[in-house]
Amino acid sequence: MFTSTNPSNLNEVIATVPEASANEILTVLKTAKSAQKVWAKLPAPTRGRIIANVGRLVESNKETLARLITKEMGKVYSEALGEVQEVVDTCDFFLGEGRRLYGQTVPSEMQNKNLFTFRMPVGNVFVITAGNFPTAVPSWYIVPALLAGNTVVWKPSEFTPAVANALSSIFHAGGVPKDVLITVVADGIQTFTALESGLKEGVINKVGFTGSTAVGKKIGAKAGEYIQSACLELGGKNPMVVMDDANIDLALEGALFAGFGTAGQRCTSLGTLWIQDSIYDKVLEKFTSLVENAAVGDPFQNVLFGPMISQKYLENHLEHLKMIQSHHKVMGSTSTGRITSSNPRKGFIGDPDKGYFAHPVIVAGIAKSDQLYSTETFGPLVTVGKFSTLDEAIDLANGHGYGLSSAIYTKDPQNVWRFREGISAGMVSINNSTSGAEAHLPFGGNGLSGNGSRQSGIWVLDQFTRWQSMNWDWSNKLQKAQMDTIEIKHDPNFVLKI
Ligand code: UN1
Repeated sequence: MFTSTNPSNLNEVIATVPEASANEILTVLKTAKSAQKVWAKLPAPTRGRIIANVGRLVESNKETLARLITKEMGKVYSEALGEVQEVVDTCDFFLGEGRRLYGQTVPSEMQNKNLFTFRMPVGNVFVITAGNFPTAVPSWYIVPALLAGNTVVWKPSEFTPAVANALSSIFHAGGVPKDVLITVVADGIQTFTALESGLKEGVINKVGFTGSTAVGKKIGAKAGEYIQSACLELGGKNPMVVMDDANIDLALEGALFAGFGTAGQRCTSLGTLWIQDSIYDKVLEKFTSLVENAAVGDPFQNVLFGPMISQKYLENHLEHLKMIQSHHKVMGSTSTGRITSSNPRKGFIGDPDKGYFAHPVIVAGIAKSDQLYSTETFGPLVTVGKFSTLDEAIDLANGHGYGLSSAIYTKDPQNVWRFREGISAGMVSINNSTSGAEAHLPFGGNGLSGNGSRQSGIWVLDQFTRWQSMNWDWSNKLQKAQMDTIEIKHDPNFVLKI
């Protein structure tokens, strides 16, 4: 049994759900797989109408779902509302795709022959997601996968089973048959064992995974053994570059939201704030004062961030604090580590002893050789460093090998274009924070952040469909491509004489 508790009030149990074994997961994978053909036979516009129903139901239950998210995983209520809106936006986008899902008509090199392309569903999709975005990120997989005619088995985070069940029940109420979307809660080991046997038995045709780079590598390798490429959305060490001509207040507002919103537990969270040397001291001082004065605490109150998702996330954060070295300057709070009544945070809202709250931490003076330079910390910890030229900033921003999100603050268009061209991240923000992607632009990363797969918008359809090409020869004779093509009479030596 998995028991989820409210991370701001550990006495409050949110849900107790059964824990699936690898065999049980395999059974549901088989069930979903056998439902796929019937689901794919339903006309795509009809599937689109079902997605429309789901979107409307998520919208009408927005506050209930958002409250549950805040209670079960701890992000502040306004962000939870935003997350649920992202599900609505995803449904709104894909309901129309049900009436498009375009293929092409393509001219043939021969007469009386026509060429076509069709998008085919891949089959049954195994979706494995993390607890930090318990509805929005799953919807990026589930919605387009269903729309394109696939069935889905979803393994949500064991830290957010109540939210997962709530979201699944909305999908089913919207008209998705029970065997077309099946949700199972399990631990990592059982999930991986089921993944292996599901791939082997041919009941998993695509894997979608959002989580750490370490686990993503294993999943990607396993899928590769079965000649599949998983859709991987992994970690980040997202840089924000502040040039000396930037609007500093705007940049710091972005840094505060990206660095500490959701207690730094977003894959798009700010990793390192890179400040141009001429403004370094001034900007660092301002940032420190913003962080020191930010409200932390009860996520239903007006705070910058609430608790860590669970004990595991808090413990990871405490481990990362050990990477701080003597040449670093630590700022941002009255202390570091867990916030308690004996290790208090100035201005804390609520009772810190009741939950997994952590002090915000700024680690200044970061250098390329530091462990913290290249470690995704996934907690309320932002590293800060300086650079002198934009080329140096780009090199620092790319040097760790992650490539998910990035940002630059500047007023100079030359800086913007040079940064965009030089940065290896899949997503670039100009005068905007590293977090806050819209639901219809490609989302995904490169290098350690992902294998090039993209979610959201039309781009994700390439994850959940395969192109089938068809040629139709109605000439009643065998016309051989490249051989029986029409000869063109022309004069290759022609020179214009006037
Ligand atoms: C994630 O943390 O896995 O852009 C996704 C953002 C959110 C999605 C984050 N819309 O920060």
